This record gives sequence, structure tokens and C-alpha cells, in this order.
Amino acid sequence: MASPRGEFSSRFGFLMAAAGSAVGLGNIWGFPTNAASNGGAAFLFAYLLLAFALAYPALMAELIIGRHARANGVTALQSIATGDKGRGFAFVVGSLGMLTVSFILSFYAIVSGWMLSFLLAPVTQLFGMAGATAWLTTDSVVRNALSVVVFMLLTVLIISAGVREGIEKWATRLMPSLVLILILLIGYVMTLPGAMEGLRAYLVPDFSALTQPGLLLSAMGQAFFSLSLGVGTMLVYGSYISKSENLPLIGSLVALLDVGIAVLAGLLILPAMYVALASGVEIFDADGGLIAGPGLIISVLPALFDNMGAIGGVVAFAFFALMTIASLTSSISMLEVPVAFVVERREVRRPIAAAWLGAAIGLISLIIVWNFDALFDWVVTATTEWSQPLLGLFFCVFAGWIWNRAAILKEIQQGSPDAASGFFWKIWPTYIRFVCPLAILAVYLQ
Ligand code: PHE
Repeated sequence: MASPRGEFSSRFGFLMAAAGSAVGLGNIWGFPTNAASNGGAAFLFAYLLLAFALAYPALMAELIIGRHARANGVTALQSIATGDKGRGFAFVVGSLGMLTVSFILSFYAIVSGWMLSFLLAPVTQLFGMAGATAWLTTDSVVRNALSVVVFMLLTVLIISAGVREGIEKWATRLMPSLVLILILLIGYVMTLPGAMEGLRAYLVPDFSALTQPGLLLSAMGQAFFSLSLGVGTMLVYGSYISKSENLPLIGSLVALLDVGIAVLAGLLILPAMYVALASGVEIFDADGGLIAGPGLIISVLPALFDNMGAIGGVVAFAFFALMTIASLTSSISMLEVPVAFVVERREVRRPIAAAWLGAAIGLISLIIVWNFDALFDWVVTATTEWSQPLLGLFFCVFAGWIWNRAAILKEIQQGSPDAASGFFWKIWPTYIRFVCPLAILAVYLQ
């Protein structure tokens, strides 16, 4: 191949990589608990609406810009901007995206490290290593620090191997396993006492919740985080898509997979929580709401697995394998953003760039681990609630106002020759110009 840039080898490869990025802790942990505390199926309904009406158009903006420019986020935005000021703005937005996604990775790796520790615990338990099991499942700075390092190492190893040999190879192995584990776990949990009550809490709609002012906004934030938008992740993955690929179609498949797996995850988490309740575990917090924070994954569910007897270890292992896979296929997409930039702009070799950037971000994680109470929530809020939506807005501005329409259509027509007369082209340009920026602004002002 003449070009040194990577490219996904097939549609399936891209779909698994992009769905791998999208499906993460946000789907399996965030979505179900958000739904349960915000009107059940009413939230689901709002989420579906926003995911397809707003997040999907924003996803398409990133995929189209990425595939057109065939470059990292900063270079890609600069290539569609005009004038010195435009290119300067592109540099700032692209760089802020890179910075934001690096900080997202720094806290994401901490939580993923917990998942890794809880994945190992059933194994040490099986071998009768009680001390090791207790160490793995008890919160401590040393455990958190070590597990972050191991998780970052895995992320760096995959990214060093490149687009096909790293990202695509691992996503095509891990994502089907994730779906299989998820379905098996749902099947098992449904047979346990209490599961039906959880299903009811998840699915019976409370439409009065739709009138709460915060609901639509929280559904929208969830959709943007879940589709990995605003920080250049989907743009970079888009830059590795073949020119013969139909973009509107594969974009909608990614959105469908993301939403589908979030909905499926709800069928596992909520019934599991009510099964835990039936076995005597507390699942409500002091205010009477469902425990949704870290307590859910690292105390409620492990307590349930403990109560299950002999099979509990197997179920715990499967569950934390699910969480670890979801985390890893997302973390690699985060690290790819700065790595692609450094490789292309500084001509550094990929493994070197991956190692140094991984080390730098890992160091930030360690600083957060050592100052957890002061920093963790702050970094989460600053990146996902302040920075990400604002950057999402800027991406829409690039696609809707700065880049010229004829060039966008030309890009879509590669791989989709009839695009000009298709449904997508009838509504997307207006959406990305007016509806998306205004809606994101509404979230932001909230
Ligand atoms: N989409 C991932 C999740 O749901 C998180 C993510 C955010 C990944 C931003 C990449 C970039 O967990």
C-alpha cells in the first residue's frame, strides 16, 4: 500500500471498532441506571429519539470529515477550514478535543482498572488465595494504581500494533464475545427470584418523567458520551474507512449497535439489582433512589454474586469480563486520538507515540488515584459535562457552517452514489446547521 496510513479491512472490522468505542461503561453502567431513575421506558423513548435525531447527525459529521481528510482530528479540521483565522480555530478545537479525550481516558482507566481487579478476584478465589482475593476487591491506593498501570499497558499494546493488527483485530474478537456474554448473563439472571420486578422498574414507563426539565437533557448527554462524540474519536476512526463504503448506512449501524447494547444492558443490570434486593442486599441509597454510582458495580453486584453460592464466581467472572471488554475497546479509541496526531504531525513511530502518550495519561491517572476525593469527580465533570458538549457543538459548526456543502455531498457520494436524492441528504444538512447546535447549546446552558 502506498499510503502509510492504516485502513479498516472490511465493513465488519470498522463496525466492531466503532461499536467497540461507543459501547463502554456509558452503556452498561450509565444507561440502565439513568433509565431506572428517570421514568423507565419513558427515558428509553427519549433516549432513542435523541440518539437518532441528534447524536446520529453529529456522529455523521465526524465520520464524513474524517474520511474526507484521511487525517488525525487537528489536521482534518484544519483541512476543511479556510483562512488563517479558520485554521487557527480548527487547531484550537482539534487540540482541545485531544486534551479532553486524554483526560477522559485518565479517569476511565481508573474505573476500568477496578473492573480488571474484580475480574481477577474469582480466579484467585478459585485457587483458595483468600488474601489476594481480599486485596483485589478492597479499595486501596496501591490496588488502584497497579490496576491502572496494567489496564493502560493493555491499551498501549493494542494501539501500538496499528489500525488493522491492533484496533480491528481486537475489536472483532472482543465485541462478539461481549454480546455473547451479555446475552448469557441476561438469560441466567432472568431465572432468579426478583428479576421480574427489576424488569418492571426498567420497562414500565412513567411518562410524567418526560415533563421533568432535566430528563431530555440528561438523555442527550448520555447519548453524546455513549457515541463517543465531540472529542475526535469517531473522526479518527472515520479516517480509516474505505472510500467505497456507504457512510450514512454504516453510521446508522454504529448508532443502532450502541443503542441496542445499551438497551440490552438494562435487561441485565436492573433485574440483577432487584435479584440482589431479593437476596437481602441494599440497592437504594439514603434518598430512596437506586444506587447508581461506583457502589452499584463494586459493592451491590459483588454482594449479589457472593450470595449466589458456587455459581457466583462464574457469574462474577463473566460479568467483569463483560465490563473489561467494554472498557478496553473504548479506551483504545481514546488513545488513538492523540497517537494519530503525534504519528502524523511529528513523524514519530506508532509504538513510540503510543508508549509515551500512554505513560503520560497513565501518570495523570495515578495523580487522580492519589488524590481521588479531590480530583476524580472534578475531572469527570469538566470533561464530560463541560468540554465534550461544547466541542460537539463546534464539530457541528464545522460541518454545518464552515465546510462547503458541495464538498460534503461529494464525499458522501463516494460509496453511496445516489446520496443526493436520498433521505439522509434531505434532512441532515439542516439538522447539522441548526437543530444540533441549538440543542447542544440548550444542554450546555443547563
Ligand atoms: N462511548 C464510551 C462509553 O460509552 C466512552 C467514550 C467517550 C469513548 C469518548 C470514546 C470517547 O463508555
